[in-house]
This record gives sequence, structure tokens and C-alpha cells, in this order.
Amino acid sequence: MKEIKDKKDNMEQLKKLFIMPNSPDKFVEFGHELLEMIHDFFQEKGGIHSSISLPELSEIFNQTSIPEKPQLIKDVLKEIKEKIIKHSVKVGSPYYIGHMISAIPYFMILLEMIIAALNQNQVKIETAKASSFVEREILAWLHKLVFKRKERFYKKNIQNPKVALGNITSDGTIANLTALLVAREKAFPPDGNFPGVRVTGMEKALKHYGYSRGVIVASIRGHYSIRKAASILGIGEENVILIPVDDHNKVDIKKLRRKVRLLTEGKRRKRAKIIAIIGIAGTTETGNVDNLEELLEISKEVGAHFHVDACWGGAALLVDEYKHLFKGIEKADSVTIDAHKLFYCPMTMGIVLFRNEKDLNYIKYSSQYVIRKNSVDIGRFTIEGSRPFSCLKPWAALKIIGKNGYKLLFKHAKNSTETLKAILEENGNFEVLNEPELFILIYRFIPKEVREELNLLLEKYKSNKRKNKELEQKIKKINCLINALNVKLHKELRRDDTTFVSRTKLESTRYRPYNIVVLRAVPINPLTTEQILRKIVSVQASIGMKLWKEFRPAYLRLLEQEERRVGLV
Ligand SMILES: Cc1ncc(COP(=O)(O)O)c(C=O)c1O
Repeated sequence: MKEIKDKKDNMEQLKKLFIMPNSPDKFVEFGHELLEMIHDFFQEKGGIHSSISLPELSEIFNQTSIPEKPQLIKDVLKEIKEKIIKHSVKVGSPYYIGHMISAIPYFMILLEMIIAALNQNQVKIETAKASSFVEREILAWLHKLVFKRKERFYKKNIQNPKVALGNITSDGTIANLTALLVAREKAFPPDGNFPGVRVTGMEKALKHYGYSRGVIVASIRGHYSIRKAASILGIGEENVILIPVDDHNKVDIKKLRRKVRLLTEGKRRKRAKIIAIIGIAGTTETGNVDNLEELLEISKEVGAHFHVDACWGGAALLVDEYKHLFKGIEKADSVTIDAHKLFYCPMTMGIVLFRNEKDLNYIKYSSQYVIRKNSVDIGRFTIEGSRPFSCLKPWAALKIIGKNGYKLLFKHAKNSTETLKAILEENGNFEVLNEPELFILIYRFIPKEVREELNLLLEKYKSNKRKNKELEQKIKKINCLINALNVKLHKELRRDDTTFVSRTKLESTRYRPYNIVVLRAVPINPLTTEQILRKIVSVQASIGMKLWKEFRPAYLRLLEQEERRVGLV
């Protein structure tokens, strides 16, 4: 009897969690506590990553079973504070300039509360009323920003439930996947008795249309989400053709043309169908933008879907100064943009837009219990099913920050990038390796003496018409040593933990075909000052010089060995 009564009591308690308390005090009390916790996190001065080690963290989170007993909210909040918040990465720190993430405006935190409180599901109108209209509105704003179609077009389609101008997705990866799914459907559409690739899969589609393979073409700087999409869509990773970049980290148009010709000429049934050509508007590693106009022309010539991955750079279209970089984007078939990058929204939200309002009809789905055929549900046009009301964040940000606000944010990001470049060059022990266009700078630590030696070797190598194998070997060996130095430097910087830039390895345009280890800075945080940038560089320089003492004997030995090899000693 007692047990039954307890259960009933528990249920009564439990029910209280699902409604707003009669008196708002309880809600406000926890709300205050939570806001204070968040505030403390931002005020805390410690290192960027917290000093706890990964094995220590796995000791904290090592409970193998779901907790048996319910706990009080206040106890769990305390646990969150001590175990999670304390050991979270301070990505909003102005000293953290290593990834495409930075400080967010505080109002975003409040918007997240609204999103959670309303708990709308964008999949259908029965679960998302006004928020469905907000989603269509912001899609129209962004569509117009990118494709600049006539006012008439937007008046007709902004709230037209028969079409979708794009999708709000959970991230850039799903946005790219959606664009490439549409591209695949358009490449192998229904035709007579052939019901379309969507029904048959790739093998029958290729057979029906008489192609040996279906390919996607992008530059080697393409984001790995393209390979993921090819794999998921049954196109296959080996059918993602990656073209080298020119000296400015933009796809090499000549090489791309040549490759496209090779792929599409020849006997029928030996030819490839180019499903999509992808232009990148802000490469992940270097922030550079491909020549979109040229890519558009080639796409038209071969009848390929032209997709622009502007996940990184797309928001820069808000500002006139950057528009010239994107010339041609207005004629693309699809464009992807991430809200959690240069729109300064919190994690995560992607956007995919289609120039042709009917393109998303290629992937339309319906079901009996939701998204019925003749409904007005947005979910008919999306890969994802249930989706949150995340578009509230960029929608509100475009009102609160506004175009002018973004202009100032990008001006600051540009200044920070240029200032960082100048500080690195002034120091003399660094080598900048790209011409930044959209706030990403790659560089490496390389002591002056090595840099001067490498410059001489490179000059000699380039002026020599015949490939000099010995010189090539020497350049390669020195670069290997400097690669190891930069890997070690990056590890030491992580240990120091007062500043953060990221690290990657890429085929640097200066030293190709060798892969060079580079440090990568994305200084987009509006709170990062010149003084902070100087501090970041001085930490890197001082740790770098300390490490160089360890590496220098190996360098001198290497020079001596090379000289002996060519008979100079
Ligand atoms: C150019 C580009 N495309 C796509 C993506 C994938 O975006 P997400 O991480 O939101 O899936 C990124 C992420 O950095 C990117 O830089």
C-alpha cells in the first residue's frame, strides 16, 4: 500500500517538472542560478581548455549504468557546473583564434531559451505554426541576398507552400548533402519507363543514361563533407574528383577544364556524367574563394549542377566590399551557408538554397501521419525529419545586428587578420603561406636562418629549367624538419593553454607537392585586439625559439650531410 502511495507521490512530483510552476519563483530561481553559472564561465580567467587531462575526464564520466534514483534539479545543476562547465573549452575567449568559432552575442543564449521553451518541430504546421512562416521568410531573405531574383519572384514564393526556396538544416554537412542529393536527382531524372535514380539507385541510372560513372568535381580544398555526401548518395568517394589549386588556393581552372574534358569525351558508355561542379566560397583551410564565374561557365557547358559551398564565406555577401569575390554565385544552382560561422550564431545551423524554387521537388516526400501530400508542411522538402526552430537565431540576429553590424564585424575580422599577418612578418621567424580573403591565415614558425636558406634554395630551384633532384631533396628534408618543429610547437602551445590557433597539414602552394604543417588562425572574435594578437604571436615565438634550440643541431647535421652528398665538403 505504502509503495503505491509513493509511486503516486513520485508521479505528482514528476508532473510538476512538465509544467511551469504555479508561482514563477522556482523557475526564476533556477533561471538565476543558471545565468550566474553561465556568467561565471565567461568571467573565469584560467586557461582556454582547463587543465584536466583526457584520462581524468574519462574517470569523471565512467558510470556504466543509467542512474537508478532521481536527483534534484539543483544537484544536477551543481554537477553540470563542476564537471562540465568547468572543463568546457572557452571558444569565446579573444585569445582563441584557431577555429571557425568565436564569441556569440549574449542575446543568442536568450533566443536558445525561447527555442527550447516553444519546442516547435519545423517538420509540419501542426507542430510549428508561426515558426514555419519565420523559416520561409528568412529563406527568402537569404535567397534574395544570394540569387537576387526579381521582387515578383519573392512576392510569389516567400510563403508559397508548393515550393521551397531552400532548407534549414542541422549543419553545413547536411546542407551540402541536400544540394548534392538534388544534383543527383537532376542528373538522372525519370525518363519514360525509367523511374529516376531515386527509385533505382546509381547502377541502373548509369545504365539507362549510358554513362560509365557519375562524378562530382571540386578542388582539393573541398570540405570532407563532399566525400561523405558522395558516399551516402551511392556516388562513391572515388567519384569525387579533386582538382589542384592555383597559387592563390583557388581551384586551377585550366586543370579543371582538362579533367572535365577527359571525363566527358570519348565513346558513349565510357563517358562520365558530371553530377555537380562545386565552387568553394571560403575554403576551410585558407578561406579563399574559387573563381565562381569560370566554374559556372564550365558547369553550363557540360550540363552539370553548379553548387557553391559558401558554408564559411556566405555571410560576407551582406557587405558590399566582399561581393566581388562571389561573382557568379547568383547563377549557381545551389548554395550552402552556415549560420554558426560568420552569422555568429551558436552551434549549429546550416542553410541550403536553390536558385530554382522547384528544385527541391526532386526530393519531395510525403507520409500519411505527417507531411501529407497536399499539406503545407516544410518537412516534405527536407532530408531531416524533426527539426528545431533554429532559424530564429539568424532571423533575430539579422534584425538586431543588422547588415551594418555585420559590416563592422567583418571589418574587425579583416583588420585582425591583416594585423596578425603584419605582426608575424615583422617578427621574422614566421612564414605566412596564404593571401587571406575571408579571415583565415595560415603560417608556420620557421627561424630566420632556415627561412633565408630555404628562400635561396627555392630561387635556385625555380630558376633552374631542369629539375634539380638534389636541390629538391634538400628542400624536402628541411621542410620535414620544420614540419616536425611546428607539430611540437602546436603541442607545446596546447600545454601552455593561454592562446589557441589550430594546425593542419596541406599541400602548400609555395612548396608543392610537399605537405606542409601550418598553424591556422581564424581571428573573427570581435573582442580580439591588436594587443591580444601580439601576445599570441609572442607566446608562439618564444616557445618556438626554445624548441628551435633542440632542433638546430639536427638542422646543421642535415645541411652538412647534404653538402657532403653533393661533394661540397
Ligand atoms: C567550406 C565548408 N563546407 C562545409 C563545412 C561543414 O560544415 P559543418 O561543420 O557545419 O557540418 C565546413 C565546416 O567547416 C566548411 O568549412
